[in-house]
Amino acid sequence: MSPDTVVNHTFPPSSELAENAHITAARYDEMYASSISDPDGFWREHGQRVDWIKPFTTVKNTSFAPGNVDIKWFEDGTLNVSANCIDRHLAERGGQTAIIWEPDSPDEPAQHITYAELHRRVCRFANVLEELGVRKGDRVVIYLPMIPEAAYAMLACARIGAIHSIVFAGFSPDALAARINGCDAKVVITADTAPRGGRKTALKSNADAALLHTKDTVKCLVVKRTGDQTTWINGRDFDYNEMVLEADDYCKPAEMNAEDPLFILYTSGSTGQPKGVVHTTGGYIVYASMTHEYTFDYKDGDIFWCTADVGWVTGHSYIVYGPLANGATTLMFEGVPTYPDASRFWQVCEKHKVNQFYTAPTALRALMGQGNEYVEKCDLSSLRILGTVGEPINPEAWTWYNDVVGGGRCPIVDTWWQTETGGHMMTPLPGAHATKPGAAMKPFFGVHPVVLDPQSGEEITGNDVEGVLAIKDSWPSQMRTVWGDHERFEKTYFADYKNYYFAGDGCRRDADGDYWITGRVDDVINVSGHRMGTAEVESALVAHAAVAEAAVVGYPHDIKGQGIYCYVTLMNDQEPSDELKKELRTWVRTEIGPIASPDLIQWAPGLPKTRSGKIMRRILRKIAENDYGSLGDTSTLADPSVVDDLIDNRMNRS
Ligand code: WTA
Repeated sequence: MSPDTVVNHTFPPSSELAENAHITAARYDEMYASSISDPDGFWREHGQRVDWIKPFTTVKNTSFAPGNVDIKWFEDGTLNVSANCIDRHLAERGGQTAIIWEPDSPDEPAQHITYAELHRRVCRFANVLEELGVRKGDRVVIYLPMIPEAAYAMLACARIGAIHSIVFAGFSPDALAARINGCDAKVVITADTAPRGGRKTALKSNADAALLHTKDTVKCLVVKRTGDQTTWINGRDFDYNEMVLEADDYCKPAEMNAEDPLFILYTSGSTGQPKGVVHTTGGYIVYASMTHEYTFDYKDGDIFWCTADVGWVTGHSYIVYGPLANGATTLMFEGVPTYPDASRFWQVCEKHKVNQFYTAPTALRALMGQGNEYVEKCDLSSLRILGTVGEPINPEAWTWYNDVVGGGRCPIVDTWWQTETGGHMMTPLPGAHATKPGAAMKPFFGVHPVVLDPQSGEEITGNDVEGVLAIKDSWPSQMRTVWGDHERFEKTYFADYKNYYFAGDGCRRDADGDYWITGRVDDVINVSGHRMGTAEVESALVAHAAVAEAAVVGYPHDIKGQGIYCYVTLMNDQEPSDELKKELRTWVRTEIGPIASPDLIQWAPGLPKTRSGKIMRRILRKIAENDYGSLGDTSTLADPSVVDDLIDNRMNRS
């Protein structure tokens, strides 16, 4: 079926899959209705899917009221996430593989880590952290590649009640330093160097550079990945591989309150610097495990692979916490989809007989362009469910995923959610719903989406409507606050539309009542499935001595979904040149990281501003999209001739 016609079709699961799924259509309807009409009763029951040390009696105590946003779930219960992900499985599945680790190079052997082994590794890691002085409530920054130690480190923190904050290994030393300082971390865990796609990133030397800008007391725990030489500062740097030899095999899991923070994860917003999203213990693990089981129809013995990096929320919830809480076998991949060639994902699926495969549309688009033979030469018969996350999926990529990868047999779950939401918010459930290419379809249990009029903030009822997406009531894995700045939390998510959680996305509810995400309605862009605040890139650009002003917008990009388009006004004494463009790219890469590298830079003698000095990004977006015939009302501009110049000179973008 061609991508043009496919959008109007629905794709029901096979009857075999539907009949055997955890959640059938009838069960979804019944469970969803009860989750909304009686959240207390619903979550009292489903809260039991994890083991509590002291059972909770209160289920939900949440308020979105202006000035008083306060979210608590299971607040008098106590538990430990590491014990839920490991210890409770030992009796039944100590010998089962918990983590399959597939290294960057296919020539290096994969590792199979059993639950018993995971227990030993995590306990030892936890004891090493205690040895370094880490205590309950302390913050630990994890700056590691995709190696099993990243999962051990997360679970070790959870075991002793330390709060981890993972920084994606692609971030620069500056970004790392900001995050270490932002949460006042006691320890940074890193590795010597990290192989990825056949190249190496010097993580330890990045950490060294970051540590020049932090308190002297921050300790650095270094995991050996490659054995490459690194600089070493005695008293500050600690050798994990040596310390772990001395560490005890057992560490008692700390008794944590349901509302104790489990982790902080920095994410980009439309204003200012990235904010530390705080997730807590009880609600998060209940929701992560439940969505993992139901969205992917995970069954005992299945091999689950989420291709994300643990540096993003997807890796937190669907590589580590969700799957392990369910006693699953989860695959962790160190490499990239195109190394050694464009067949790697599919080779790994064949090699490890993957049943559920979860990736981002950007990866699919890149692979799709390489040709079908890379997929077709692999045996993908083990695949049962496919998933996507991170950005809207276009019909071409959906069709390719469905036909070429899934052979038309595997339901595609298009999961809409955010760092802030902790777990899936909207997705088809594979046995319950006929999917529609590009639709996030239905809310998960307990999620109450509404479509709001962007101007009035009123709920738009009925079907076949479009507006901004908001959520009416709390769900267990909702973020609780911005680390150290509750006011910013309220202002970001609850101020625009009172009494709702505002997600920052637009959406459409179609004639059948199914949801489609239409993309961000704020100044956040989505580059290769990574969230990027345009404000962040702008502030990196203006930090360069040659730059007077900068405005950054997203524009449609075939592979990345959106690309980064920068309008740059130079200082008076600066001459535009290709070398300067190159320098600015390198500059942004060092300020933020390679993921923020500008795709296009256009020299802009002036930027379109209102008389009050506000940049009219709507106009800049149109020019970036080559849609400058329909700029709309420009009468409020202080100097309309600026726009003509930008249009005339748009071809100097590169
Ligand atoms: C976008 C990633 C359309 C959306 C889990 C959201 C999506 C942002 C989808 C969150 C999807 C995520 N369809 N758009 N299935 N999933 N998004 O915090 O704009 O990195 O607000 O979380 O990604 O990005 P984040």
